[in-house]
Amino acid sequence: MQPSTDPPQPTPHNPQPKAHCTQPRWRPFCAARLLALVLLLSIAAPAQTPQTPLPEAERTRWFREAKFGMFIHWGVYAVIGRHEWARHRFQIPQAQYDTYARRFNPVNFNADAWTDLAASAGVRYIVITSKHHDGFSIFRSQVSDYDMEITPYKGDPLKMLAEAAQRKGLRLGFYHSIMDWHHPDYVPKRAWEVANPKEGGNLDRYLEFMKAQLRELLTAYGQVAVIWFDGEWEHTTQEMHSDEVYDFIRKLQPNTLINDRLYKREPGNRADFGTPEQFVPATGLKDPSGKPILWESCVTINNDSWGYNKYETEFKTERDLVRMLIEVVSKGGNLLLNVGPTPDGRIQREFVTRFEALGRWLKVNGEAIYGTTASPFARLPFFGRATAKGNTVYLHVFQWPADGMLRVPGLANKVVSARLLARPAAKLPVRRDSSDLLVSLPRQAPDEIASVVQLTLDGSPSTTPYVIRSDAKGLLTLGVESCEIETRFEQRAKKENALGHVFLTRWTRADDIPTWTFTIPSPGRYQAEITYGSAGKGAEFTLTAGSAQLTGSVAGTQGDWVFKTYPVGEIQLPAGQQTLQVKASPRAGLNAMNLEKVVLKPAP
Ligand code: GLC
Repeated sequence: MQPSTDPPQPTPHNPQPKAHCTQPRWRPFCAARLLALVLLLSIAAPAQTPQTPLPEAERTRWFREAKFGMFIHWGVYAVIGRHEWARHRFQIPQAQYDTYARRFNPVNFNADAWTDLAASAGVRYIVITSKHHDGFSIFRSQVSDYDMEITPYKGDPLKMLAEAAQRKGLRLGFYHSIMDWHHPDYVPKRAWEVANPKEGGNLDRYLEFMKAQLRELLTAYGQVAVIWFDGEWEHTTQEMHSDEVYDFIRKLQPNTLINDRLYKREPGNRADFGTPEQFVPATGLKDPSGKPILWESCVTINNDSWGYNKYETEFKTERDLVRMLIEVVSKGGNLLLNVGPTPDGRIQREFVTRFEALGRWLKVNGEAIYGTTASPFARLPFFGRATAKGNTVYLHVFQWPADGMLRVPGLANKVVSARLLARPAAKLPVRRDSSDLLVSLPRQAPDEIASVVQLTLDGSPSTTPYVIRSDAKGLLTLGVESCEIETRFEQRAKKENALGHVFLTRWTRADDIPTWTFTIPSPGRYQAEITYGSAGKGAEFTLTAGSAQLTGSVAGTQGDWVFKTYPVGEIQLPAGQQTLQVKASPRAGLNAMNLEKVVLKPAP
């Protein structure tokens, strides 16, 4: 499927004879380079078709609809193959790092292979590092000598990628690091490298250089979808001239989106979207007035590096990635999933297979992702998530109900039709059980990772928040699939193991607090039981409901995936809507427990 607005238009790239500087590293600007820079800054870009500035809602529309992007971290660090921060982490002197730069020769780079993978994976846009913190530009820059020109490679990878992306109808953006460990004018320098890190540079002059590179990127590579800044944390927005840089970009390409790292990563700045890194916010991102803002979670498939790391052997599973995409989209965000190509230009097998798996899932279920809005439900009683589009609600079911009945509370609309996206020809029977909607499902899930039920409604979804109720025996089951969780925990929560247990895991922070809302039919005493798995023991926990409080300490269950139930104590609860929280005190980075559920039973 194509992005809904016009695809990017690359413009011819006419490399100028490059102004060379022959002085050694850390040299001040030579006259020729300065001249090139001044020319670039003063001459209006000839090659770029001017854009008509779109109003904000229009400018960001493609991004809101796209949902899924591919992040590419590629540069000299790939030669080392250990992390994109290698120069800093291993304190590699610049002269030695330069030898890696001179060896960067991506002979197997094939821009079409990358964009083919992206397109077949259902990716709608690509963001690639034009320059990472090491200061090396993976394009042919007229204003820097620390670019592709010092490598044996003859081409301009960004130009090739821009053209391939254009051919595939993919948008292309550039990650550009503000921090620069190479440029003589950037300060502070690395503390391990120089005696006086704050001395010897000139940040204002550096920013002119950065603008000159931005001008190159925004005038010679077609329409730029995004300028994705990073490495902003060493400076205030005043020092970085953030507003000036913002206006500079808008002038060159008024419709290019700008991420929040040109400022500080807090909502409430001029940026187009927020960039939670390696996590999915619990309830999306909002500006200081509480209005939801655009956001994009950037995430690696492996655990640590963004750049190629040949030593990493653990990768997120296809299941985790598909569910992560769904989770992000159900909270109104985009997922920017990273690859770090090898120094010779290939994308490693582990990444390819996972992108392909996402593509297979999206081929069947893409309708429930692209162009959708966040879930209309505050919470759901089943393990899954929801998205919406106009009069349609999509229920992404992760755990198939054992009784074949999907219970959807709080949906007031009339359901015109229900079907599985995987089997669109067959209508699913629906009925009401008082105000709950019941959808009859076939015995087998069409997709054990996530199957999507499409509900066509008589109007836009009208919902009331779901509140857990007691069953026929008076039991209240508070399973983790229907808890809310306030902090950054949820991205690792709600795992499901091979035996069908759904649980919270990696509970390493005391302020990750699962909360349930439920109704107590009549006042009385309740016995609380807790079910968890835990190889270790000893973490303290507290159960709080209203003014009642119970404490306990985690027992070893002889395995993280061995789930056992323990009594916690009795509490008195008044009738009506209640909330219950479980607070844990995890010890020094250890998982407190794999919590599955809390059950409240009327005391005999
Ligand atoms: C961090 C890292 C950087 C990576 C980025 C991606 O800021 O410093 O290496 O490029 O995250 O968001």
